[in-house]
Amino acid sequence: MIDSHPPVAILGTGLYTPKESISNAELVAAFNAYVGNYNHVNQAAIDSGDLPAMAESSVEFIEKASGIKSRYVMNKSGVIDPARMCPSLPERSNDEPSIQCEMAVVASREALDNAGLQASDIGAVIVACSNLQRPYPAIAVEVQAALGIGGYAYDMNVACSSATFGIQNAVDAVRNQSANAVLMVNPEICSGHLNFRDRDSHFIFGDACTAVVIGPQCSGAFEILGTRLATLYSNNIRNNFGFLNRGDESGIGQVDKLFVQNGRKVFKEVCPMVADHIVQHLADLDIDSSSLKRLWLHQANLNMNQLVGRRVLGREPSAEESPVILDRYANTSSAGSIIAYHLYQQNFERGDIGVICSFGAGYSVGSVIVQKS
Ligand code: COA
Repeated sequence: MIDSHPPVAILGTGLYTPKESISNAELVAAFNAYVGNYNHVNQAAIDSGDLPAMAESSVEFIEKASGIKSRYVMNKSGVIDPARMCPSLPERSNDEPSIQCEMAVVASREALDNAGLQASDIGAVIVACSNLQRPYPAIAVEVQAALGIGGYAYDMNVACSSATFGIQNAVDAVRNQSANAVLMVNPEICSGHLNFRDRDSHFIFGDACTAVVIGPQCSGAFEILGTRLATLYSNNIRNNFGFLNRGDESGIGQVDKLFVQNGRKVFKEVCPMVADHIVQHLADLDIDSSSLKRLWLHQANLNMNQLVGRRVLGREPSAEESPVILDRYANTSSAGSIIAYHLYQQNFERGDIGVICSFGAGYSVGSVIVQKS
């Protein structure tokens, strides 16, 4: 929408990066050890044709298919233990802060510093991410308390698009004066809902947390020229975990309680949807794509980003125009496009325009067009 309301801007961003990381070689070594053990234990059934043998993964495939070389995780030892293949993150007591709150506080403090604001300047906290470690009390209320913020807080989930949908909510809140400024945070523990025993997807995700402060426009900030959201129901990316269908105790016994996708279909259906979405959004704001300085795209897959970039710009985007962070972070769900924005916006001059765009399960797409003031 083009608006006649007082301008709203992104005032600052922050990033929490976990201390531990797993290279493709380490991940593949663990996966292949798991496969070797699985095939050994099930040798008789495999030989009789009752069970298919599991195939090994490869570093070359992962890098070629996705562009991912490494990923940060909240716990490495559990993920690369062939006898476990999921993070070891013990449940915490009610008196301890949640892991997502801890991640959120670090990213939020940096975002507040960058914005030059104090906790007392914020009127609302939105935690927007793919998976929340509990339904309630909201993680956002916990973050609000940990930072000493007043006003109100709530959690929301639009999978990989959670951050742009959260920014839309923040913009609406500032415009409608339900909050003077909003802290929007994306604590993503994707390793907790990734099936590290699934060859097709074990390499896709990593963990990280981003934070964005949105408030009234001020000099030097990135004014939000427009936001646009879209959703279209699809079963091609799913996670069926929930309190009515929890799977077994370990959470790894029933694979559809973790992330599952039809990757080929996602690629084919989502890329054109995203490119058309951005092109139309720019056109409606009378912005020519040739005047775009940067595309901060959701970081799921390098080939996806290159295709979307080509369709929007009408040519191959340069590395500077469409920065890639998934080589070292992998897909961090809603945090991905914000990590790209956080790390690659320092050389913007007054008047330069860029697009933050997320996409993912739902399907869902969100674009936020910003201009350096
Ligand atoms: N190691 C080695 N080989 C593998 C492998 C692995 N880990 N996983 C799959 N393969 C093999 C397959 O068996 C297949 O072999 P075949 O041709 O002999 O049958 C081949 O590689 C191609 O597999 P496919 O699943 O079709 O791969 P792909 O080229 O479609 O790439 C994705 C897979 C997931 C990277 C790709 O579909 C994609 O990027 N999709 C976008 C989805 C996405 O990122 N979603 C996140 C949420 S937005």
